[in-house]
Amino acid sequence: MTVLSIGLLYGATTLLVMFSAQVWFQHVRPMEDAYAFLWMLGVVYALVRSLSGDPRWWVGGMLGLGLAMGAKQLLPASAGKDMLFQRCFICHGFQTRMASVRRDADGWQDRVQFMRDAMHFSLGWRFDDKKAADVASFLNTSFGNDATLPRSPAEVPEYKNTTHKFTSEAMNIVFVEYEMPGPSRMPFSAAPSKDGYLWIPNFGIANKITRLDPKTGVMEDFPVPNSGTAAVHSAVEAPDGSVWLTEQGPNKLGKWDPKTQKVTEYQDAYLPGKEGNESAGSKHTVRFDPRGNVWATGYPLSRLDPETGKFTDFWGVADHTYGLEPDKDGNIWFTNPGTGQIGKADWKTLKIKQWEVPTKDGYERRIELDSNGIVWFGEYQNGKIGRFDPKTETFKEYDLPGGKDVFPYGVGIDSDNNVWYSSYYMDVLGRLDPKTGKITEYPFPHSENTIRELFRDSEGRMWYGSPSNNRVGYFYLAGGKGAGK
Ligand code: HEC
Repeated sequence: MTVLSIGLLYGATTLLVMFSAQVWFQHVRPMEDAYAFLWMLGVVYALVRSLSGDPRWWVGGMLGLGLAMGAKQLLPASAGKDMLFQRCFICHGFQTRMASVRRDADGWQDRVQFMRDAMHFSLGWRFDDKKAADVASFLNTSFGNDATLPRSPAEVPEYKNTTHKFTSEAMNIVFVEYEMPGPSRMPFSAAPSKDGYLWIPNFGIANKITRLDPKTGVMEDFPVPNSGTAAVHSAVEAPDGSVWLTEQGPNKLGKWDPKTQKVTEYQDAYLPGKEGNESAGSKHTVRFDPRGNVWATGYPLSRLDPETGKFTDFWGVADHTYGLEPDKDGNIWFTNPGTGQIGKADWKTLKIKQWEVPTKDGYERRIELDSNGIVWFGEYQNGKIGRFDPKTETFKEYDLPGGKDVFPYGVGIDSDNNVWYSSYYMDVLGRLDPKTGKITEYPFPHSENTIRELFRDSEGRMWYGSPSNNRVGYFYLAGGKGAGK
């Protein structure tokens, strides 16, 4: 367990933020420049330092990653780079698993093939030998044994333009973290249970859920029966004390029984002829209605009646859904990135109503409700937080500092109804105060945050998983109100 109080450690009023590389990748794909390799070193540099735990190294690490922010002209265009961004970074970035490792050409080919096999549900239907060769070649040029990089990012002239300032107020954030009990667990979230435990889905090939006792730091694993990649995306306790989980890989739900401590699986059907293809059936996020029916997003929105074991799949209405949250009446709110809508399913009649988000193509991800029943969601591709009032059926959108570079992924509401978001590609958390519209940015203490979801516990602490960093944790604001305490 690590406690990181940024204010205490540094007492500074400004810090450089660890901007992750992908932002930059995405926005400058067509540009070419030999400085790419200098910048790569920045990332490597940052990584080593942020992982070492020594504050001096950590600050250095931030300088290195800060480079990514302004390095808009650095990396050479290539088909492999495009593929890496489009197909690989949907699950993780490259700081912890690529930039920080040296492999030769065979080594990179081998790892790309490993991903094709292990993540077949995702890569199988949109990746071929040519694309794999392009990605492996790009990785070898960038991070192979012969890649030549300068020793310090500070040697790059653009470096000074890449700093990011935080206010003194932002130094109040405190992070408490717990390491996963094994490597590469990819913990997507940490969902509080009634008894004060946290339930953690292990995404990828670990095929486990994990229970954390935050008082002792002890973590206990429970396997899922699935053979092959389960890719457990979400694990949440139901009101009756059982824990339900989604398996994105094989399109299953799982139920952990508190008495037997075993997981039973429920297989949903694929669209005929497309078995194993993620877009023909997969499960992301899980929640419950008042009768204990199990709702899941993914392809498509679905509902399982646990008594009969029967799934209702909302194909044709809500094909491609992501965030999921019930309101106080038990009705199910969800985002529909497939159509650019948010929707509400009446849990009793199963009728669905959907509303178009004003700004198009936002790829809306998480959705949450505040204590007044106002609906909040992240507009991932548009750098906005959306607000929807179900009474008036009207939207309001808030532009985030950093705009389209932010990619708000996790969204959580604190006990004062402030709306928190995590940036997928920048190592930043933000807080929107809806009363004033003010947004405060806070630094996240690692590169490649990749936070998927934020949960508030009964003490007001905001829980997250940082899959790339193989840890879960919570944050709160020291000495103040807001996120906890
Ligand atoms: C569907 C999600 C997903 C996709 C898509 C994906 N990865 Fe991964 N990747 C993972 C997970 C989960 C792990 C951790 C698996 C492990 O090491 O047990 C991982 C690990 C890795 C590793 C580290 C392997 C090691 O031996 O340490 C590399 C390198 C990697 N991925 C590269 C890629 C590349 C390149 C692509 C695109 C071709 C890609 N990944 C696409 C989920 C994904």
